[in-house]
Amino acid sequence: MADPDSKHFPSFRSGLPSMVDKTVVITGTTSGTGQVAARTVAELGAKVVVLNRASDRSRTSFEGLSADCPDSELHQVECDLQSFDSVRTAASQVKELCSEGIDVLCNNAGVMALADIATVDGFDIQMQTNHFSHFLLTGELMPLLERAAEGNGDARVVNHSSVARLSPSKKLQAKFLSKQGGQLGGDGSRLQNAMFRGPRWLRYNQSKLANAAFTAALHVKLQEANSNVRALVAHPGLSNTHLQKTSVKEGAMGSLLTGMIMRFSQSAEDGAMGILSCMCLPNAQSGQFYGPGSGAAAIKGKAEPFDLEPFYDNADTRRLLWEESEGAIASEFAV
Ligand SMILES: NC(=O)c1ccc[n+]([C@@H]2O[C@H](COP(=O)([O-])OP(=O)(O)OC[C@H]3O[C@@H](n4cnc5c(N)ncnc54)[C@H](OP(=O)(O)O)[C@@H]3O)[C@@H](O)[C@H]2O)c1
Repeated sequence: MADPDSKHFPSFRSGLPSMVDKTVVITGTTSGTGQVAARTVAELGAKVVVLNRASDRSRTSFEGLSADCPDSELHQVECDLQSFDSVRTAASQVKELCSEGIDVLCNNAGVMALADIATVDGFDIQMQTNHFSHFLLTGELMPLLERAAEGNGDARVVNHSSVARLSPSKKLQAKFLSKQGGQLGGDGSRLQNAMFRGPRWLRYNQSKLANAAFTAALHVKLQEANSNVRALVAHPGLSNTHLQKTSVKEGAMGSLLTGMIMRFSQSAEDGAMGILSCMCLPNAQSGQFYGPGSGAAAIKGKAEPFDLEPFYDNADTRRLLWEESEGAIASEFAV
């Protein structure tokens, strides 16, 4: 379907502060909310480092960003979130590029409802792409976030979750964080996929719940350490991006029903207001969630702040998330 018009983004965009002298690192900028966010902070004057896996989409999107923002300092770093080795290599390049410190790390990239296959590291492809690799990247870059926070009194980690965190059980389960990629329930029937149910969707929902639980756990650890680094999370409602196109191509969604559902979506720009609020607004606080509402019907509208939710912001879930994630990346994440 044609891209919906942006209803709120133009006025939201005009109220954003300057990002001059800020360094922003962001994953997944070849399309969708990440592309909008990278362009916006670059226009606002930030130095921007985009992390994408190698592809034509990556090359052409960076050419587009460079053409749109000729006066901005822009860098691209190759990073495939399906591989911990690739993330570690990318992190070491980012450290060289950003020795001054990182003001904002936006863990935006994601995939949805992919088949039940293991990554090279043995984990579920959705959990590794959407959560584990961002956990690893954040741990690697934390010293640079701390450096910026010491200098400016503020640095931010921004995660990107979803309304999907709400379904179906609201309980993060250890098995989806374990090294059982490819053995987590198969791909589901055509009917299940057409109805957005079944194991592909459960794995996606768990990965988006993990994004929120990571934010809650990181927020508590940063507070306990008296850090000036903030941990925030956003969701984009239902946004018309490349995400659904990939899921249709991968057999996870019927194209007819998807087309009908996407009539109710908002533009990628409107969807990006959540992460941009977390990245840019001076009054966005650690432990806040930004999105067009907190309920399951919050699929479009202005991004507003709400509190992290008790079904993942509790001691057991925070501990489960942290311990399993450190186990997955086989290293300690020191805050
Ligand atoms: N659109 C929605 O309605 C919606 C709803 C809820 C949450 N979200 C979340 O919003 C975030 C952004 O998604 P979007 O909607 O903007 O979708 P999108 O247009 O498909 O963008 C996703 C980005 O993630 C990148 N990516 C995927 N796999 C990767 C990998 N292995 N390594 C590096 N980058 C990878 C993609 O790059 P490639 O070009 O390499 O694939 C792309 O740049 C995701 O976390 C998603 O879960 C979206």
